[in-house]
Amino acid sequence: MCGIVAYVGPKDAAPILLEGLQRLEYRGYDSAGLVVSNKGLKVRKVKGRVAELAAAVPARFKGGLGIGHTRWATHGVPNDVNAHPHLDNAERIAVVHNGIIENADELRAKLEADGAVFASETDTEVLAHLIARTAEEAESLEEAVRKALKSVVGTYGIAVMDARRAGEIVVARNGSPIVIGIGEKEMFAASDVAALVRYTRQVVHLEDGELAVLQADGFRTFTSDARVTSKEPLTVDWDAGHYDTGGYEHYLLKEISDQSESVARTLRGRLDDRFHIAHLGGLNLDPRETRAFRRVKIIGCGSAYYAGQIGAQLIEELARIPADAEPASEFRYRSPVVEHDTLYVAVSQSGETYDTLAAVQELKRKGGRVLGIVNAVGSAIAREVDGGVYLHAGPEVSVASTKAFTSTAVAFALIALHFGRVHDLSPADGRRIVEGLRKLPDQIQEILKQNDAIEAVAQKYASHAGMMFVGRVRGYPVAREGAQKLKEISYVHAEAYPASELKHGPLALIGPEMPTVAIVPDDELLDKNLTTLGEIRARGGRVVMIGHSEPDAKLAEDVILVPKNEVELDPILLTIPLQLLAYHAAVALGRDVDKPRNLAKSVTVE
Ligand code: G6P
Repeated sequence: MCGIVAYVGPKDAAPILLEGLQRLEYRGYDSAGLVVSNKGLKVRKVKGRVAELAAAVPARFKGGLGIGHTRWATHGVPNDVNAHPHLDNAERIAVVHNGIIENADELRAKLEADGAVFASETDTEVLAHLIARTAEEAESLEEAVRKALKSVVGTYGIAVMDARRAGEIVVARNGSPIVIGIGEKEMFAASDVAALVRYTRQVVHLEDGELAVLQADGFRTFTSDARVTSKEPLTVDWDAGHYDTGGYEHYLLKEISDQSESVARTLRGRLDDRFHIAHLGGLNLDPRETRAFRRVKIIGCGSAYYAGQIGAQLIEELARIPADAEPASEFRYRSPVVEHDTLYVAVSQSGETYDTLAAVQELKRKGGRVLGIVNAVGSAIAREVDGGVYLHAGPEVSVASTKAFTSTAVAFALIALHFGRVHDLSPADGRRIVEGLRKLPDQIQEILKQNDAIEAVAQKYASHAGMMFVGRVRGYPVAREGAQKLKEISYVHAEAYPASELKHGPLALIGPEMPTVAIVPDDELLDKNLTTLGEIRARGGRVVMIGHSEPDAKLAEDVILVPKNEVELDPILLTIPLQLLAYHAAVALGRDVDKPRNLAKSVTVE
């Protein structure tokens, strides 16, 4: 949420900042801006996309030091003035910021009393005025930033420039990520490695409470009380090609189409044919510790939460350990009872989602044992947890999650298999699951081949004002994720219900104008699900059925069949047609598929 890029080096900063901002646009895209240093600070900022900013930056916009920002508004509407960077009145200090300053009103009142005149409604502008004041007395920019941050309450990742010190940038992190990129006689910083991989793969993540000074020939890191810290650079596996659309019209379609490979990557090296188990060294749990857990509690936000619901079901079914999932945002605010024999699992593609991170920190503070299922290596949540499973799904750029969702469900299947085999899952059942998991990549490929047929179904229903999604037990999280995908990218109202609950209220909505997408796997609940279809059809409702075998023609107007796997693993495959359905509906409606309105990919604020 909000993207930051910073550059110091011999080249002109503006093209590098614009390129980086484009890579970060999925984090926020309501306004963008940049500043470079060239005998004073030169600023350009606009409401709208990075492309609009690029058009507003003159060809000769010289300056080898600069910071840029793409915004997702929290304080103040998206407009040119509220766009970052923000400057103090003397135009000495420029700041870009990701996060929320909680005591901004109080600080603003004090600064105004002291003569500061504010141009914007943002909390960020407070930082510019504040640092400008501490800079008067300070011997260095780092000292000025450090001192100013002492009176700030809230979360931030910031990059700061001083017109009087044209050779350096200071960055600081508290709750919002900052990554430093190490180049050849040039240095970068960003809120996400995505902005850096074109230039360098050597990166350093700042910790909360850490600051850094970047100069062309290197960087120094230190704490808020000026203690020097030492950092080991990490090499990023992903290169710039992973962040391109790869010839697809949208990142979303690329990421949906990548799922055969991304699932294979999640599984790679983790299946064992001798004991029919999963190898998950990163869990850091020995068999005795594993047996001691009586419950599993899964937390996450959005699609990560729905993937967690699939995970809870897998763990209950395969390991027979009671498990449930809850939105991390709810969990952290209800003063959760943390039990020593409950294992907590935090799920996050980005590893940055603030509510999930805060829930993990609350759990750790209370002594809970927390695992992470995370895609972004080295991210805040990955570093905070006691152990976990990396998805290795590759970068996910489109705001709506697809391949991270399926890889998370697969990671849960591995955990459930592992726990199951430590408990009472028989070797025969272990083998059944191992073989089922191995089949997934090919079966995903089979589903993707139906793209054109699914597109036709999507076009048929896209113009409806609303759609109902229903599923039972294993099918219910699938229905929830299907509804989530449709609403977030096509803006069609979509509601998910357990199929069994339909007659307790939502059946009143059913009629020709409210079609239903029904998840109907061939499992022990097949007959019950078919009865539900009959109830919908009897009320004139139209049905799109996603399942394994053709029902009686009267029960569904459209049917999308997916290959059958083991019942426990079927939800993973049943999800994929729903992603394509949402994608094609959004395209048919002319939506901005990869950057849906009002949303951002990484929600790093509360
Ligand atoms: C945002 C995104 C969702 C995502 C959720 C959790 O709301 O728009 O697509 O599912 O955050 O993100 P995470 O990175 O923690 O999985």
